[in-house]
Amino acid sequence: MTATKISMPRSPVPDAVLAFADALPWPAMLLDGEGRVVHLNPAAAARAGGKLRGRPPLEQLFPEYGAALRGNEPWLGERETELTRETPLGPVHERLWLRPLSGGACLVVADETRMRELEATDAQTARLASLGFMLAGVCHEVSNPLAAIYSMVQILQANPGLSPETLEKGLANIAANVKRILDVSKRLSDFSRVGDAPRSRFAVDMVVEEALVVLRQDHRFAEIEISHRPDPESVVLGNPGQLQEVFFNLFINAMQAMQGRGRIAVVTRHPVPERVEVEVRDNGPGIPPEHLPRLFEPFFTTKPVGQGSGLGLSISNEIVHEHGGAIRVANHPEGGACFVIELPCVRGGHDDL
Ligand SMILES: Nc1ncnc2c1ncn2[C@@H]1O[C@H](COP(=O)(O)OP(=O)(O)OP(=O)(O)O)[C@@H](O)[C@H]1O
Ligand SMILES: [Mg+2]
Repeated sequence: MTATKISMPRSPVPDAVLAFADALPWPAMLLDGEGRVVHLNPAAAARAGGKLRGRPPLEQLFPEYGAALRGNEPWLGERETELTRETPLGPVHERLWLRPLSGGACLVVADETRMRELEATDAQTARLASLGFMLAGVCHEVSNPLAAIYSMVQILQANPGLSPETLEKGLANIAANVKRILDVSKRLSDFSRVGDAPRSRFAVDMVVEEALVVLRQDHRFAEIEISHRPDPESVVLGNPGQLQEVFFNLFINAMQAMQGRGRIAVVTRHPVPERVEVEVRDNGPGIPPEHLPRLFEPFFTTKPVGQGSGLGLSISNEIVHEHGGAIRVANHPEGGACFVIELPCVRGGHDDL
């Protein structure tokens, strides 16, 4: 395909731009000031089904691109937009880049279908891997108490004449192990619900305050001093119940780390207009550096059997990620653990999605 020599009114496109457009592996075309196509590179000519004849308007040659780009005025300004085209081989996802040139514009079309497929496969693979990991943890968590229940039942069956006290101890042991299994299964059902809860806009401090109201009634927090510095502009989009669960997990962890005595400081801020941060800091012993990389793993716990399932932070992490955010953790230089929940900040828009 030879480059069509074009002369745009007033300012012709330099040969270097034509050569550059022709070298691109994606469809690229040059438009004049009225949005008429004046040059197609080989990939664009192949898409158009032949050589360029005359100066057809973009809409005539590529109706989808014309429809995607027209409407915004001035339409030949700098734009980037996505488009999904239905083709006999299935949907094709394309990204259109429009860049003004003197006397017109250059439009480049990149096919991102394969990239999207890869992203979806990657996400799916990661999800399956974590599911497998999770399943191994669940089996481990459930099989220990089940084995304990089984041996206790065998002991009770083998000794029919046991005293009522021994029998009672045996049953209490069985009940404690059943409770362990129920706890794990309850927390796991929280896990599976992440992602499909209804969403609305709300001030993140409303959720923090509601959690604090509940904790103030909890005797385990009787000797914990909690301060909260809110930021009224920190509005987020999400599910308040699920985010409250995240804060509960952080507050309970802090209380447990401080053995029921100490201070928790909650500070909300928006360091940039697009992001909200809620910092939850305690003055407990902090986290051993070797534990930091494992903290969000399902079933990672340093607590004795029956006191922690090791699911609190992994569920919280899942919830915050579902909200488009992230959790950071570090030991504060002055002591204690410091968790920061980052969330996208929203202003304006609809209340319910
Ligand atoms: N504020 C904190 N200070 C010190 N260590 C912490 C703190 N928060 C969490 N950790 C550590 O992280 C581990 C994992 O916490 P996570 O909340 O996931 O599980 P858990 O509290 O052990 O059990 P669960 O929350 O399921 O009852 C804890 O066992 C503890 O060792
Ligand atoms: Mg916990």
